[in-house]
Amino acid sequence: MNTAVRAAVRLGEDRGHSMIVFTNGFKGLINNEAEEVNWMSVNGWAPVGGSFLGTSRVNLKGSDFYTIARNLEEHRLDGLLIIGGWSGYKAAMEMHDRRHNFPAFNIPMICLPATIDNDLPGAELSVGADTALNSIVEAVDKIKQSAVASRRVFVVEVMGSNCGYLALMGALATGAERVYLPEEGVSLKDLRSDVKKLLDGFKRGKRLGVMLRSERANETYTTAFMSALFEEEGKDVFDVRQAILGHIQQGGNPSPFDRIQATRLAKKCIGFIEEQAESEEPYSACIGLLSGRYRFTNLEDVPRMFDEQALRPKKQWWLELRPIAHILSQPGANFNKQNGDE
Ligand code: F6P
Repeated sequence: MNTAVRAAVRLGEDRGHSMIVFTNGFKGLINNEAEEVNWMSVNGWAPVGGSFLGTSRVNLKGSDFYTIARNLEEHRLDGLLIIGGWSGYKAAMEMHDRRHNFPAFNIPMICLPATIDNDLPGAELSVGADTALNSIVEAVDKIKQSAVASRRVFVVEVMGSNCGYLALMGALATGAERVYLPEEGVSLKDLRSDVKKLLDGFKRGKRLGVMLRSERANETYTTAFMSALFEEEGKDVFDVRQAILGHIQQGGNPSPFDRIQATRLAKKCIGFIEEQAESEEPYSACIGLLSGRYRFTNLEDVPRMFDEQALRPKKQWWLELRPIAHILSQPGANFNKQNGDE
């Protein structure tokens, strides 16, 4: 991940355009962990993985709003740039909603999507997701190479919280046999059918199977459970190994796409703050790539775009790619027929 963009909170002040950063995300904003930065202090950050500024996940409680308002006033801030995932978006919305009680919150706030999960409304691709996907593909390619001489099934678990973006894209990029998504869940019927497909495939000469499982595809049918099930049912025909990719997906130097996207988004966010800071009733927004362009979405529209229960956007463009993943996993399948396009 790119530290320059994974930073949890950055604040801009238009008097001479000074920039204050709060380290450790909203925890830092509450604890007033503020540092003034300039061009030279962030020099060289963009290509480095990790997070120089630190991050945190918080659920703001009553007294936090008062503390944050006091800190914003102390630093005389004119705008707030929040870089991160859903907990940052939620906190921004909560502050925006309280702007009539806390005048310090009546400043433009802009959320820049940065999470490997790619689970944010108003953005088709969040910063970090491409880097994580690259790590997944590299790891799965290596896992596949390890098995050239054996008849083996791998159950590979990837991150993504409640969103299956990394799993589906990882499956498409690596030619996985099967992908398990939180959007679809997993049933016993699915697993039975997957076992049958694997057995049929291996009996017809298949030598390798990759089953990519999103970490929250199903609470009960875990990666360990699925591996044990396939092992038991496939004995004499194939071996099974599990691989939980874990935090290698959060690390890694940012991909060129992520670096460029982060820079472009940050520039637009600063422009947004400069423009809105002039207004008596500034509005707050999130930014993101939508249909090939960077667009702002009013924060007030965000709640209806997000499923608070499922913890992911109501619309996810990439789900449309599921039929391709399905077809790629079936040798000899007729692509056009399966899509109803005969
Ligand atoms: O939200 C990003 C994410 O990497 C998820 O994909 C994953 O479930 C979670 O964070 C892991 O959190 P932690 O690093 O706290 O274990």
